[in-house]
Formats: sequence, structure tokens, C-alpha cells
Amino acid sequence: MEHQLTWVEISRSNLKHNIQTFRELIGKERILCPAVKANAYGHGLTLCAPLMVEAGADWIGVNALFEAVELRETGLKVPIYIMGYIAKDELSAAVENGFHFVVYNAETLYELASITQKLQKPAFTHLKVETGIHRQGVLPEDLEEILDLYRNNPLIQMEGIAAHFANIEDTTDHSFAELQLKNFQKIVEKIQGSRFTPKYIHTANTAATILFPKTYFTMVRTGVGNYGLWPSNETYVSALQEGKNILLKPVMTWKTKIAQVKKVPSGSYVGYGCTYKTGHDSLIAVLPVGYYDGYDRGLSNNAYVLVHGRRAPVRGRVCMNMIMVDVTDVHDVKTEDEVVLLGRQGDEEVSAEQMAQWIGTINYEVTTRINEKLMRKVVP
Ligand SMILES: Cc1ncc(COP(=O)(O)O)c(C=O)c1O
Repeated sequence: MEHQLTWVEISRSNLKHNIQTFRELIGKERILCPAVKANAYGHGLTLCAPLMVEAGADWIGVNALFEAVELRETGLKVPIYIMGYIAKDELSAAVENGFHFVVYNAETLYELASITQKLQKPAFTHLKVETGIHRQGVLPEDLEEILDLYRNNPLIQMEGIAAHFANIEDTTDHSFAELQLKNFQKIVEKIQGSRFTPKYIHTANTAATILFPKTYFTMVRTGVGNYGLWPSNETYVSALQEGKNILLKPVMTWKTKIAQVKKVPSGSYVGYGCTYKTGHDSLIAVLPVGYYDGYDRGLSNNAYVLVHGRRAPVRGRVCMNMIMVDVTDVHDVKTEDEVVLLGRQGDEEVSAEQMAQWIGTINYEVTTRINEKLMRKVVP
């Protein structure tokens, strides 16, 4: 049974709008591969992937084998690309299932050589090359050894070449991204000059897809933007500076309902640690959501939720399973009234960016950390 005291609603129309926005940017002929890693950035893996395909996604990108398997088991038919580490004892399953996956070292290619021989099946690999992020990625000096391994093992297909930007969303100065792009182009030319013909050349995340068509090549891997979130303020400002009129629509609304409403006299403490003391007679609502659910403890005395379309400040510390909010100024509050923790209610909004600012992080972390056990449901 799912935990239903607090739940997440996923707007099908907003998700569709975002996917179609990226489709319009990249055109029909390129592969749109939205990333659904980290439980679809907290939005629900098995719920979002089919909606994305319905909206026009060609491939789906995950981080790990278990996510790919879960999606296949739910009947998803499109190619699945695994972008993160596949452990040695998982590689057989990746090949057996025909998943597409990233490779960035000789060690994995040696493993794949024996696995593909044994299974007599091809491995669909995308070679990640180093261009400046120093995360995954084959270093230029190791490239020849890697290419030899491909040459000597024809069952290991190099169907793609990939790279990832280090700071494209962190700044309005894109000189480092330009440098990475140049490095990438040189390596791609070198590999193609060695008579490899990879079909899928990709490097673009959301920020690159919004800002730089020259990063598209033949496939893009958009992430946070699919969920209607901007990668950063800098990306938003850069887009405006470039005259790009792009509207992304947030997909998630995180809700709960009021468990209790109580009168608290002036001068009373609220919650653990007695960190909040009422300055006047107050009406406090107790909500059944806490840091277990992903409502960060840093929001203690530092956030508001929306009740009847009005802001209700969080009072006292966020507990494991409860928070207290001040509803003194909200009319007619009663138990079971719906509360918005993240998203819109009436004219008010708590954005993922706002919540990220309250706790000193980024919107990505706010949504991905919402507990997977919470019910996700699709709304129109
Ligand atoms: C390899 C790779 N590609 C694409 C993405 C999508 O990035 P974004 O969510 O910024 O669009 C990520 C996310 O971190 C990633 O790791």
C-alpha cells in the first residue's frame, strides 16, 4: 500500500508541453532522449516514462540497470539508454536485454568482449569521451587502446559517442562549454576518421538544448527541463539574452492534507527544541508530512505552504512525519483541507526554485529527494 497522507500530482498536459517544446527545438530527425533517472527527478519513473513517449520522446535515458529493467517490465517499448555505471555482474543483463549504454573504459570493454562472445549478441555501446568535466569519459591518450578493443571485438558496437558539459548551466559565460564542444568535435572527427560510423552523437542536456543548437548533433538528453524546471537562473537569463522565448511548465504539485487544527495561546512554543514561540493567539495546523517524506529539515521556521490559496508559514522544526504551520490568517481552516507544499494553489506558488533557495540547494535536489513511496498520480 502506498503512503497517501502526502502525494505528488503529475500534470500530463504540462509534461507533454515540455516534451513538445524540446521536440520543436531539435526537429523531427533527431533523437529526443529524456532522462528519467532518480525516479524521473522525483516525479515517478514508471509513470513519467510512458507519458513522455506518448508526448513524442524517442528514447528514454536512465541511470542504472534496475531502472531500465523496471521500465521494460512495465512494457515500455522504446530504446532505453543507461547513462550511469553498470557493475561488472550486471553487464550480461544489459547486453541480454538489448539496452543501450555508456562505456568509458577498457576494463568494461574487456568484460563485454567475453560476454558478447558467450551470448553471441551485440552490445550497443555509446563511448563517452573526456572533454573537460572529468567524470565519466575516455582520456585522449587512452583512445587508441579503446578503438583497438572495438576493432577486435565486432560484437561490441560503437553506436554512439557522448560527452557531458561541466558548467553550461552555472554561468552566462559559455566559453568553457565552447571549449568542451571543440574538444568533442575533434574527438568525434578522429573516431570517424578511424572508420567508425556511430549513429548517435550526443552531448546536450537541458541548458545546451535551450541555448545552443550546435550541441544537438543527432540526439539530446534533456533532463530537468522535461519536468518544467529551468536548470538555473543563469540559463534563464542566457535564454532571454539570446531572445529565446521558451516557456517550461512545472509538472509536479506536492500535496498533503490537514491532520489537526488547534488554538495555541500567545507565548507558547511549537515543536521540538522550542524554536518557535507564538507572539499572539494562533491557529496552528498539523500536517502529516516530514523529513522522511523529503520535506527538508532545513525548512524549519523557514518556509511556507499554501492553504486555501494563502501562505501559511512553517512554525518550529520539521519533524520526521509532521510539520506545523500557522493558519491564523487563513479563513475556515478544517481537518482534511488540501495543502500545497510545492506547486500552485490559487494565485500563490511555492516553486522548486523557491524551496531550493530556502534550504540552500538546487531545484534538482528538491524534487529528486521526495520519497519514492509517496503516491504519484496523473492529473490532466
Ligand atoms: C549524462 C547526463 N545527461 C543528461 C543529463 C540531464 O541533465 P539536465 O537535467 O541538466 O538536463 C544528466 C543529468 O545530470 C546527465 O548526467
